[in-house]
Amino acid sequence: MSRLRAERDRLHAEATAGGDPRRQRALGKLTARERLDLLLDDGSFLEVEPFRRTVVGNLKTPGPGPHTDGVVAGSGTVDGRRVFAYAQDFTILGGSLGAAHAAKIHKVLDLALATGSPVIGLNDSGGARIQEGVPALDGYGGIFRRQVAASGIIPQISVVLGPCAGGAAYSPALADFTFMVRDTAQLYLTGPDVVHAVTGERVGHDDLGGADVHGTHSGVATFVHDDEQSCLDDVRYLLSLLPANNLEPPPAGPPTGATQQQRPRLAEIVPPEPNRPYDIRDVLAELLDDEDFLEIHQGWAANVVCALGRIDGAVVGIVGNQPMVLAGVLDAAAAQKAARFVRFCDAFGIPLLTLVDVPGFLPGTTQEHGGVIRHGAKLLYAYCEATVPRVQVILRKAYGGAYIVMDSRSIGTDLSLAWPTNEIAVMGAEGAVDVLFGKELATAPDSTAARATRIADYTADLLHPYYAPERGLVDDVIDPTATRAAVAKALAMLRDKRGTTPQRKHGNVPL
Ligand code: HXC
Repeated sequence: MSRLRAERDRLHAEATAGGDPRRQRALGKLTARERLDLLLDDGSFLEVEPFRRTVVGNLKTPGPGPHTDGVVAGSGTVDGRRVFAYAQDFTILGGSLGAAHAAKIHKVLDLALATGSPVIGLNDSGGARIQEGVPALDGYGGIFRRQVAASGIIPQISVVLGPCAGGAAYSPALADFTFMVRDTAQLYLTGPDVVHAVTGERVGHDDLGGADVHGTHSGVATFVHDDEQSCLDDVRYLLSLLPANNLEPPPAGPPTGATQQQRPRLAEIVPPEPNRPYDIRDVLAELLDDEDFLEIHQGWAANVVCALGRIDGAVVGIVGNQPMVLAGVLDAAAAQKAARFVRFCDAFGIPLLTLVDVPGFLPGTTQEHGGVIRHGAKLLYAYCEATVPRVQVILRKAYGGAYIVMDSRSIGTDLSLAWPTNEIAVMGAEGAVDVLFGKELATAPDSTAARATRIADYTADLLHPYYAPERGLVDDVIDPTATRAAVAKALAMLRDKRGTTPQRKHGNVPL
């Protein structure tokens, strides 16, 4: 027995040792196990299938010595809560994915779904293991199918910490949140050599698919970090705001007395003039507990801000127009970003707070040809079918289609509040007067004075702050300094909102 135990210990140590770490170190990268250590609570990791490797006849891949087949997979806890995780090990065959490697990831995804736990994939891989051929591609397909099956049921987080090329890039794209680290992470379908061969274009790895490219231009990366430690710290922070699955409520913190609190600075942050810019994130800081929130897709489509935070201890997802970027207009990218966030919050029972200050959709051929209608429709769709508690606060202007899609009463918000600075209309006064009175003004003896009169009349008739409330399209006009308290009360009122109308014994009466 002692011989068997000693042999087991030797083989186990060999299996889990990993490859030569010098190459990772030289690139400023951690090893797979070091990454898992940073992600998970100390001593909580339980590894699955450390011995599994590709075996063809008697030929083992990657041969004798350290194996794990290039991926360390298993489960542990984050702040005491169960998660599943896998970390690809670039020191073994470049972390490439063959059948055995894929099977370990499949196992972790299956267990995460079966137990209703979040799953985190740490990617660092040369992609499909070339020498295995089609079973490697089959392995990827199995990952994608499982990710789609688990979508909306358990949170999925993908962390890119090295190369992630070819079809492998679809795993991060299918995840709910994707983290990337500057300089070391690259995500692309075809690398620089293939790009050059096919198109003649010369481009470096980072310029093609580095963290900033995906964090700013493509929107594939939700979060971009300078180093692995801060990246994995933020994965833990994100997890602290998410439920384990779609049947559990998001983790609540202790109440913070928000329903009784005034925030005088809110009246100073937002200028009363509708077109003067300010940073909507300053408003978020005033509304949220501890002035703390996690911004999603900070660098991409920054004209809309999406964030997770807490109000009175309860997790809330915030969508807000950002007057500091592109004057806060909505465009195709902003609509995609917000739509995806709204769908995520709805799937995981996270109430939505929508802060509205929007001049409209961005006009022009670039937007129209780029599908702003198609992407705007996604945002409409996401809000229309969201069954979580929904609160809208209109800070200043809300014009046209952009007013509708920003969780207006007509598409189902539960409670709409507005500041006394609200202006809600089909369009702003100047544009409206030019459309309605263009011919009259062209022939007026003093067209400047006539136009000014028409603008003043339009503003007085249609843009006054009680026009929408009088028609029941806004529930109440609130003092800006009382917004945190009002939102906290509204969310408390809606806390027990059910996702579906409960069935009556004899069937529901159609509305
Ligand atoms: C097998 C691989 C491999 C792969 C790397 N290695 N990629 N082995 N299959 N896909 C091995 C290398 O042979 C090398 O082994 C070790 O990993 C380290 O690789 P290097 O090239 O020395 O590292 P580096 O210079 O840092 O370059 C990293 C890299 C490069 C940019 C990722 O390795 C690379 O371009 N690999 C191929 C990428 C690729 O085209 N993959 C297929 C994508 S298509 P030794 O023994 O020398 O240390 C795909 C389809 C998926 O994935 C479809 C899913 C639907």
